Amino acid sequence: MCGIFGCILREGSAVKQITEGLKRLEYRGYDSVGVATIDHGELEIRKDAGKIEDVVARHRILDMKGSIGIGHTRWATHGAPTMVNAHPHADGSRSIALIHNGVIENYMELKEELLEKGHEFKSRTDTEVMPHLIEEELKTGVSLQGAFLRALRRVRGSYAFVVLSTVEPDKIYCARNESPLVIGVSENGVYCASDVPALLPYTNKVNYLRNGEMAVLTLNGYQIIKISDGSTVERGLTDITWSPESAEKLGYTHYMLKEIHEQPSSLRDALRLQERYLNLLTTFLDRGKEVFLLAAGTSYHSCIAGSYLFSRLARLTTVPIISSEFIERYGSSVGIDSIVLAVSQSGETYDTLKAVDYARMRASTVLGITNTVGSTLTRVSRAYLIQQSGPEIGVAATKTFTSQVLVLAQMALKLAKLRGKLSQDELDEFQEKLLRVPEWVEETINKQEERVKELAKTHMDDRFFVFLGRGISSATALEGRLKLMEITYVPSLAYPAGESKHGPISVVEDGVSCIFVCPQGDSHSHILGSIMEMKARGAKIISICEEGDEQVKKLSDEVVEMPREIPEELSPIVYVVPLQLLAYHMAVLKGLDPDKPRNLAKSVTVP
Ligand code: G6P
Repeated sequence: MCGIFGCILREGSAVKQITEGLKRLEYRGYDSVGVATIDHGELEIRKDAGKIEDVVARHRILDMKGSIGIGHTRWATHGAPTMVNAHPHADGSRSIALIHNGVIENYMELKEELLEKGHEFKSRTDTEVMPHLIEEELKTGVSLQGAFLRALRRVRGSYAFVVLSTVEPDKIYCARNESPLVIGVSENGVYCASDVPALLPYTNKVNYLRNGEMAVLTLNGYQIIKISDGSTVERGLTDITWSPESAEKLGYTHYMLKEIHEQPSSLRDALRLQERYLNLLTTFLDRGKEVFLLAAGTSYHSCIAGSYLFSRLARLTTVPIISSEFIERYGSSVGIDSIVLAVSQSGETYDTLKAVDYARMRASTVLGITNTVGSTLTRVSRAYLIQQSGPEIGVAATKTFTSQVLVLAQMALKLAKLRGKLSQDELDEFQEKLLRVPEWVEETINKQEERVKELAKTHMDDRFFVFLGRGISSATALEGRLKLMEITYVPSLAYPAGESKHGPISVVEDGVSCIFVCPQGDSHSHILGSIMEMKARGAKIISICEEGDEQVKKLSDEVVEMPREIPEELSPIVYVVPLQLLAYHMAVLKGLDPDKPRNLAKSVTVP
């Protein structure tokens, strides 16, 4: 998400290297920039919204003095991209500057506690609680390290924190949980950064901080400490052999592959929704007479999955609708009692915003789910949730789809609770399964990528594919087909399996590849019939099914086996992963660039 760079130098100006380092992290996407340095014991912070060069020029950042400093490029998750919300954030006494990448889950309760103790907050970020928490701990007389450790033990969520303080003006403290942080050492100094590319011009000797570790950097080197018990961790430096270009992709050949592999972590962040906004959105949904789920492209497929989730968990009927169709189809009938939940990764898709404007004009309530704080959708929605997937650079959406479905699943569960539609046991059980989604996705990537690569090889010359799924798996089939078509350009069809006999079956003949999405659940027995229908017409059957599903295995030519115990309602998030990988590997085998498919744009902001 955000870019981080910190350094302590023997010679030279810290800001020069910080701004250069931040520029090398630009590819991560950002909306604001900030730097803090210490010179002769004085802490100075300069920051603003905007591009690196503009902010650096506007605030004369290169004039900042000192050989120690930290810098940040922000991708907003809490609070719009504005100057006050930009990092670094300071404590009340302005002796601590702190930058953060990640999401602090319990910041509301920490903030309330700190407000009661008289702390004043300037921003709307979750991050700002952290310097205040350290300040509060320092008041008890502990060292800066002690205060940082205690504060770290109180925050829940994902973070890479970097701290600069006049209390110990020659040190940088940093810590990591789930958000990346790398330490680098060169002859001229010690560094930390969110990613290796920022460090490569200065050093290729790095130490990756691990989850639950903090580190103290000084000119003499660094010390790593376990946050849980304060014990020292001994781990030497690693040599990096990546080129700067491959380092931007963390060694992955394409952003799309990197983003597919990021899903266990982006899904963990999607589970860290802000409770109060989740409650607000579900309250609105509960009150509506009719609820539309409005979106385009991949986000529309999330909405289809969402409609099953709302019905099955919360017994709420919702209507998924393609943005560009909304006005013609429902424009004359929507009104004050209608709720429009718009789902858009970018928050800027023209068709979605146009439909939203229309709905607002008709006095409907507009709600949003987006990945982009400060986007137009966040400004025009009565309430919105941020899906927290971090920037997605590959044009074909991958991690943003899985996060959107996970956000919708949490909304559906919350609504089920509000409406009293599930028993306490059912609620608890589903909640427990929700938390396991990232680990299922991780297991799928680890165990099945090689298998999927083989499939891609076997089928790379196939000229046509049919994707079929039933119930919520029809959303998975549609999304799998969209990925394949977008980046390999191979024509394909996707249909709810039951509907395939009303047309699509006529194109199935000897050798046509049919990809079936078959999780366990209510739809399972029906999908067996559809597989048999296609098999009888000579189709080659490739099935994505649960490990040990002998019925499906017996009927299929090839299978990809998925983890057990995934409830059907959550299956799109996990079952789409082999389909993303299939599209990716097939595109690469065909010599195509999956990151930049022809004729497509990441965000379509024109009619
Ligand atoms: C474009 C992109 C798709 C995306 C769609 C909707 O077509 O190529 O990947 O799903 O726009 O974008 P949104 O930002 O509204 O989710």
